Amino acid sequence: MASITVVLLVLLPLLLSSLVAAAHSDGGFGFQATLTHVDAGKGYTDAQLLSRAVRRSRSRVAALQSLAATPAEAITTARILVLASWGEYLMSMAIGTPPREYSAILDTGSDLIWTQCAPCMLCVDQPTPFFESAKSPTFKKLSCSSPMCNALYVWDCYKNTCVYQYFYGDSASTAGVLANETFTFGTNGTRVSVPKIAFGCGNLNAGSLYNGSGMVGFGRGPLSLVSQLGVPRFSYCLTSFMSTVPSRLYFGAYATLNTTNTSDSGPVQSTPFIVNPALPTMYYLNMTGISVGGDLLPVDPSVFTINDADGTGGVIIDSGATITYLAQPAYDMVHQAFVAQVGLTLVNVTSPDDLDTCFKWPPPPRKKVTMPELVFHFEGADMELPLENYMLIDGSTGNLCLAMAPSEDGSIIGSFQHSNFHVLYDNENSLLSFVPAPCNLV
Ligand SMILES: *[C@@H]1O[C@H](CO)[C@@H](O)[C@H](O)[C@H]1NC(C)=O
Ligand SMILES: *[C@@H]1O[C@H](CO)[C@@H](O)[C@H](O)[C@H]1NC(C)=O
Ligand SMILES: *[C@@H]1O[C@H](CO)[C@@H](O)[C@H](O)[C@H]1NC(C)=O
Ligand SMILES: *[C@@H]1O[C@H](CO)[C@@H](O)[C@H](O)[C@H]1NC(C)=O
Ligand SMILES: *[C@@H]1O[C@H](CO)[C@@H](O)[C@H](O)[C@H]1NC(C)=O
Ligand SMILES: *[C@@H]1O[C@H](CO)[C@@H](O)[C@H](O)[C@H]1NC(C)=O
Ligand SMILES: *[C@@H]1O[C@H](CO)[C@@H](O)[C@H](O)[C@H]1NC(C)=O
Repeated sequence: MASITVVLLVLLPLLLSSLVAAAHSDGGFGFQATLTHVDAGKGYTDAQLLSRAVRRSRSRVAALQSLAATPAEAITTARILVLASWGEYLMSMAIGTPPREYSAILDTGSDLIWTQCAPCMLCVDQPTPFFESAKSPTFKKLSCSSPMCNALYVWDCYKNTCVYQYFYGDSASTAGVLANETFTFGTNGTRVSVPKIAFGCGNLNAGSLYNGSGMVGFGRGPLSLVSQLGVPRFSYCLTSFMSTVPSRLYFGAYATLNTTNTSDSGPVQSTPFIVNPALPTMYYLNMTGISVGGDLLPVDPSVFTINDADGTGGVIIDSGATITYLAQPAYDMVHQAFVAQVGLTLVNVTSPDDLDTCFKWPPPPRKKVTMPELVFHFEGADMELPLENYMLIDGSTGNLCLAMAPSEDGSIIGSFQHSNFHVLYDNENSLLSFVPAPCNLV
């Protein structure tokens, strides 16, 4: 179990010469951006893609558990230990004047937008040059009294400059100066420059960036991109993580679920977000049950609720996890229902890293097998999962596996389960909506 790490603040030298900002306010807006899977184009086989993704998911669920297992009296400290691993998707964007392109890891589990800045005291490898704030006239350090500085969990004041620190659950961290800067988002036609976005210019960073050059927080807190852009809604349509077609992100005015004139199909379903006061950044959902093969499993509803005393439990939707983690009692019932309903032999688990609801699928010519339908029930919405969103073929063994694992604490609905859904996060109305969609066409 991870403990809370207290890192001493290192005061940073003043870093810039400031020219006059040419910032002006932009009108209402939106944009479309491309999301690239972190392992795309690296030549991994499907089996390798899968094991890499499962390993990343596992570190994320471990982070959630260590965070939730923090004693209630230390909850204020726990809040600064932001839950995140490194996510699964990279978003293309540009920073500064003139704009310099880079890719940032999209994270719905944290808020801060940050990139590594020169001069670097401690930096990790990234594919683009470190951002040189001194060369960008729109870069403006924020004072210690600025609202964005005060929205940080850990900050310090150095010569009236806001110096931030931000920790991720897997012991990664970033520290540097909090500043305003112009960011440019969107692909052709929807390209938009937005001045005065507060971001972390990190001079002291640890962890791995998985070939990104920073992170972009899409959480519910004030520092996130969603909150800062003033139109607090976005949607994404994730292609299968084994697909070579990139995924799409829509922001602001572009974030709508069209049922008539796009490829979106089927009825739009909506369910409210709920707030966990211990982790207000995360998108919690009110999960009410799970059906396998048409039978509603007798899961005690308390298995999915947030424990008010310490913020443990609950169900989050998270683009940064791949497979779904279900609280152990719910997972056990799903496992038993699949074992009872799938007419194939259950495979014995040989390694603790293996998925443990796997069935022997005799080699080709393969007989047709029927899999039970799987439905996640939320308050006001049923998510009927297409087969490819919950069963996968383990490339190394040929076994058919359920893409889920047990969690000792809360549950996480991962991206594998919501790929090929167009998913809309409407923070203004505190509502998650989704509709099945072929994301390679949207
Ligand atoms: C953007 O537009 C330019 C000029 O029309 C074109 O060359 C480029 O391929 C376009 N890029 C994308 C991603 O559509
Ligand atoms: C930073 O941006 C915020 C929000 O637009 C603005 O209110 C503030 O004055 C800016 N601060 C500086 C130093 O540019
Ligand atoms: C970064 O990309 C290179 C080549 O594209 C790859 O070999 C390396 O494993 C990647 N690093 C990470 C941490 O994903
Ligand atoms: C949704 O449909 C409307 C009307 O057909 C169109 O103007 C809008 O661009 C569409 N939005 C998306 C995200 O496809
Ligand atoms: C929507 O689709 C229908 C049929 O494909 C088409 O006739 C109609 O013009 C479209 N409407 C808009 C606004 O694009
Ligand atoms: C699984 O393990 C049990 C106990 O070790 C053994 O009896 C059984 O034959 C094994 N099943 C398969 C399919 O290997
Ligand atoms: C979750 O949904 C159920 C069923 O609609 C409702 O009774 C319950 O109050 C909801 N829980 C929260 C925390 O909103």
